[in-house]
Amino acid sequence: MQHTEERTFVAVKPDGVQRGLVGEVIRRFEQKGYKVIGLKMLQVTDAQAKAHYAEHEGKPFYPRLIRYIQSGPIVAMVVQGYNAIAGVRHLMGSTDPDKAEVGTIRADFAQVMEYNIVHGSDSKESAEREIKIYFEESELYPERKCMSELVIESLDAE
Ligand code: RTP
Ligand code: MG
Repeated sequence: MQHTEERTFVAVKPDGVQRGLVGEVIRRFEQKGYKVIGLKMLQVTDAQAKAHYAEHEGKPFYPRLIRYIQSGPIVAMVVQGYNAIAGVRHLMGSTDPDKAEVGTIRADFAQVMEYNIVHGSDSKESAEREIKIYFEESELYPERKCMSELVIESLDAE
């Protein structure tokens, strides 16, 4: 069976950064075997916030969501791995930390939906769109091999 890698956009949101959870979040993705191929800390601009959350425009929580994502710096990253889009969402847990499975980032570190530490793209289309909001292709470093690629690719080659 051939496995294909995916890229997904992940952010440690301002509450996660303020609480010193950047390392913990990255550790969980790296521990899974995913590769961080782009990484930066930034203050989200108005244009980036609107583009990122365009799908939520008009919803009751939208104004607070825009304020929240701009309330401090975020740590933006691109994570690459096999089925990484769904896999990252699985490690993050449900949007509402009370409903997230124990062991996931949101269950372990968050209490309420509006301050849920991390963002992860929810589909291939979202991932491609969101990566472009925050990264130039030249800022990504996909070449480095990680251990899971070495194992999975060697089995796929047989
Ligand atoms: P995210 O986009 O941040 O990865 O989260 P998600 O897919 O699990 O959830 P989504 O429906 O896309 O919502 C985006 C973010 O908006 C906030 N939210 N607040 N008060 C509310 O009802 C409510 N619903 C969503 C959360 O911060 C959520 O992560
Ligand atoms: Mg979402």
